[in-house]
Amino acid sequence: MKTELYNNETAFELEPKVIDETRQGEALTMERPVTVKGNGKKYYIESYGCQMNFADSEVVASILSNAGYDSTAQFLDADLILINTCAIRDNAEQRVRHRLMHLSAVKKKKRGAVIAVLGCMAERLKEKFLEEEKIVDIVAGPDAYRALPSLIEEAETGQKAVNVLLSREETYAEISPVRLNSNGITAFISIMRGCDNMCSFCVVPFTRGRERSRDYDSIVAEAKDLYTAGYREVTLLGQNVDSYRFSHDPKLVGKKLVDAKYEEHVVNFAELMEMVAQIAPDLRVRFSTSHPKDMTDDVLHMMAKYPNICKYIHLPVQSGNSRILEMMNRTYTREWYLDRIAAIRRIVPEAAISTDIITGYCSETEEEHQDTLSIMQHVKYEMAYMFAYNERPGTVAAKKHTDDIPEEVKKRRLQEVVDLHRIHSLERNKEDVGKTFEVLVEGISARNDEDVYGRNTQNKVIVFEKGNFKPGDYVKVKVVRCTSGTLIGELAE
Ligand code: SAH
Ligand code: SF4
Ligand code: F3S
Repeated sequence: MKTELYNNETAFELEPKVIDETRQGEALTMERPVTVKGNGKKYYIESYGCQMNFADSEVVASILSNAGYDSTAQFLDADLILINTCAIRDNAEQRVRHRLMHLSAVKKKKRGAVIAVLGCMAERLKEKFLEEEKIVDIVAGPDAYRALPSLIEEAETGQKAVNVLLSREETYAEISPVRLNSNGITAFISIMRGCDNMCSFCVVPFTRGRERSRDYDSIVAEAKDLYTAGYREVTLLGQNVDSYRFSHDPKLVGKKLVDAKYEEHVVNFAELMEMVAQIAPDLRVRFSTSHPKDMTDDVLHMMAKYPNICKYIHLPVQSGNSRILEMMNRTYTREWYLDRIAAIRRIVPEAAISTDIITGYCSETEEEHQDTLSIMQHVKYEMAYMFAYNERPGTVAAKKHTDDIPEEVKKRRLQEVVDLHRIHSLERNKEDVGKTFEVLVEGISARNDEDVYGRNTQNKVIVFEKGNFKPGDYVKVKVVRCTSGTLIGELAE
């Protein structure tokens, strides 16, 4: 279980790897990595933030490799150091600043190394980044990665280079990502970019721009390529996957369609999921994140129809109180959220549900905080990412609401949420003891190299004895014990 440690704040040092040259999907629209003459230079990339940022780093790796760069896992060897950043909360930004301080020592040793800051913090701070952090040479926002080779050229002449233009069209659709730090079995696929929701606390609409969906042909092509390369699970990524809509008719692309006569030309999220699920019965399909206001029964019926669409939904609630939800501009009420939970239980009864929660949002009373605890009590989430509210500059909340809950009250409420969640996740795990699940093996357990680990369809990690199993195998495993974080299993008879 993670506390205040959302996956969008974990930092990984990525070891870039180029996908096996033998990849041969039926892809028609993907731009294959071409063998280009190396320019003798090496890049090192480090990513912070959510899965979408990690997926973007794989697009960046592809663009750099096409420009002749080789990758290195050692930043001391690199001519180009890229940091892909997150701006969701202040502590995510502080982490990046510390990292940059460390890198400035590197830069002294390795003269001429170019340092590029990418991603959401780059977009939020723009040129200001160059004033605040003198060692930075390039600032590039999430929609500017195709311009990186020219920005690098500019920086190599000693000038500072900035491109933070946001786009209404860019989806990097035909760029075939270079999988970084991959286990060769599970991969992320970006299906859309940006967000139009404008939740009042959130910086993402400002750092990632307008919502736009990627061409489904390129998504299916990427998934097929991955399957052919041996991958067995893809996660379709977007800030709000339920609002995915794409049409090849240029008049319709990017538009939110209300006109029924066009419906047949537009692929929605449920249909996209079906296209990917039909690639192969042993290719698992996951998705993240669902928004309670948009998650339709169609999506749930599609999950129920295909055994390879995983029975796991991340449905952030944020708060259990309707007044706070309204102030957050989440555009649903407690009752609406509970109705969506009831729909999941009815249509996909075996689904595991996880959530995001914010404590101490502007003006939240003790009673309203109790509503969050009671909604948790109702759902008993399998997993939760929990945060104390952190005001972000430029957001609607920063402009309109007063951040008036004292830090210690936010933290105390957070602790109550965390404690309750710990009880629920243990309870949920105990319910699994004695059950048998199909597990997709992902790798050797970090704790014991005689064990392997993998996930069941509900996204729960199960550890069991290695035997002759290898990553990519599907194994029937019976759960015999559990902790609040892990299930321990043995081979089912
Ligand atoms: N698109 C997803 C979430 C993206 S951000 C969604 O709509 O749910 C991930 C999570 O970070 C959010 O769900 C929210 O719980 C948390 N978060 C975002 N902004 C925050 C802030 N200013 N303070 C605290 N937590 C925040
Ligand atoms: Fe932020 Fe809301 Fe968009 Fe999620 S849906 S990214 S919380 S604005
Ligand atoms: Fe962070 Fe940007 Fe993702 S702010 S959470 S990296 S969209």
